[in-house]
Amino acid sequence: MGSGTPLSPGILSGPIWCSTCIAGRLLLAAAIMSLLFFKRVLANPVRVGYIVPSLPFLTRRTAGFIDFSKAGTLIELGPGEGCHTRRILRRMKSGSRIILIELDECFAAHLEQQFFDDDRVTVVHANAIHLAEILEKLDASNPNYIVSGLPFTIMERSLRETLFKSIATAMGPDSRFITYQASLRMSDHELFELIRSEHCLLNVPPLHIMELRKSLN
Ligand SMILES: C[S@@+](CC[C@H](N)C(=O)[O-])C[C@H]1O[C@@H](n2cnc3c(N)ncnc32)[C@H](O)[C@@H]1O
Repeated sequence: MGSGTPLSPGILSGPIWCSTCIAGRLLLAAAIMSLLFFKRVLANPVRVGYIVPSLPFLTRRTAGFIDFSKAGTLIELGPGEGCHTRRILRRMKSGSRIILIELDECFAAHLEQQFFDDDRVTVVHANAIHLAEILEKLDASNPNYIVSGLPFTIMERSLRETLFKSIATAMGPDSRFITYQASLRMSDHELFELIRSEHCLLNVPPLHIMELRKSLN
């Protein structure tokens, strides 16, 4: 169409215009969030771990591990810019709550801003190694689910072990720990028992999603 050709009135009216506008806004929001993610990767590559946020294929499959009828209290460790949180909130009941624990101050501020009007969400800018104390303060010990995006596979061994201990301490016998990782290595860790796992190829990088419970031994 030439620049002088008038637009047909139908093009700018009704649902087509609205959906184009919504799609455009969603694309813009996704671009801004990815930019933030990329900036934080540059600032701290080991802590953030991956170069892009989890893709919708992974967030959908991870949320599929959660039984939302039993998810009164959810914890998310390392939510980043909030891609899993948004997916979870779509299915979470109104009486449930989710506590986001994020170490990066820019991500934490972004999460606060993004979810300020959702009273199911609490954002805590802290290190997940203090998980048990944080949950005690928030009266959220023995949560139903702990969903973790922490990059265990690439972090230093002593930090990983400290985090595993904190997570296991915060879990009750019925709590479930869901994590997505590049390897299945942690599935035979002495503190946890693997319930099930799935491989999600459609992510960068492809990841294993694991559901674990606290080991009773
Ligand atoms: C691999 S990114 C995952 C981000 C997001 N969940 C996703 O799937 O796109 C890891 C996230 O964990 C956060 N993180 C790393 N170590 C942490 C710690 N000890 N406590 C809390 N958050 C941490 C990073 O800042 C980052 O947001």
